[in-house]
Amino acid sequence: MGAQTFTTPTSNSHHVLTFLLPILLLIIMTNMQTTVATSSSSQTYKTYVKTACNSTTYPLICYQSLSSYASKIKSNPRKLCIYALSVTLQASKNASSAVSKLSKRGGLTPTEKGVINDCLENIKESIDELKDSVSSMNNLGVKGADVQAQLDDIKTWASAVITDDVTCTDGFDGLKVSTAVKTPINNSIVYVARLASNALSLIDSLSY
Ligand SMILES: *[C@@H]1O[C@H](CO)[C@@H](O)[C@H](O)[C@H]1NC(C)=O
Ligand SMILES: *[C@@H]1O[C@H](CO)[C@@H](O)[C@H](O)[C@H]1NC(C)=O
Ligand SMILES: *[C@@H]1O[C@H](CO)[C@@H](O)[C@H](O)[C@H]1NC(C)=O
Repeated sequence: MGAQTFTTPTSNSHHVLTFLLPILLLIIMTNMQTTVATSSSSQTYKTYVKTACNSTTYPLICYQSLSSYASKIKSNPRKLCIYALSVTLQASKNASSAVSKLSKRGGLTPTEKGVINDCLENIKESIDELKDSVSSMNNLGVKGADVQAQLDDIKTWASAVITDDVTCTDGFDGLKVSTAVKTPINNSIVYVARLASNALSLIDSLSY
C-alpha cells in the first residue's frame, strides 16, 4: 500500500522534471554566464585603475585607495578623477579629526598648540578646496561650462591642498615640537598630500 502511494507521485514528478529540467538548466547557465561576465568585467575595471595609477607619483597608494571603487569607476577617466578627489577629501577629514583629537591632549606647550592650530586651519582650507574640486569635477562641462577653465580651477585647488599640507609640516622646522605631536600630524598630512598629488596626475592625463 505504501508502495502504491509512492509510485504515482514519483511518475508525476518524473513528468514535471522532464518539463522543468531544461528550464532549470537554462536558469543555471544564464546565472553562470552573468557571474563569469561580472567577474571578468570587475577584473577589467581593476586593471584599468591599476594601469591609470601606474603613471601617478605614488602608484601603490593610488591603487590601494581606489581599487575598491573600480566597479563604480568602470574605466571612465572622469569618474576616476572624481573618486581620486573624493578619497583625498575623506583623508583630509580624517586628518582633521586626528589633529583635533591631538589638540585636546593635555600637557601641550604653547608652541605645540600653535603648530596644531595652524595645521587645523590648513586642513580646513584643504577640505574646502577639495569639496569645490569634487563638485566641479562632477559638473564638468554641464550647462555649457568651459571645461578647460573648470579643469584649471580644479588643478589649482588640488595643488593648493599640497601646499597647505607642506606648510603645516614646515611649521615644525626650528620649533620645539615633541615627536608625540609631530609624528601623528605628519602621518595624516603626508598621506593627504600624496593622495592629492596622485589626483593631480590623474587630472593632468584627462583629455578634453
Ligand atoms: C606599470 O609600469 C611599468 C613600467 O613603467 C610596466 O612595466 C607595467 O607593465 C605597468 N603596469 C600596468 C598595470 O600598466
Ligand atoms: C578615513 O577613516 C575611516 C575610519 O577610520 C577609514 O575607514 C577610511 O578608510 C579613512 N579614509 C581615508 C581615505 O583614509
Ligand atoms: C613626515 O613623514 C615623511 C614620510 O613618512 C617623512 O619622509 C618626513 O621626514 C616626515 N617629516 C617630519 C617632519 O616628521
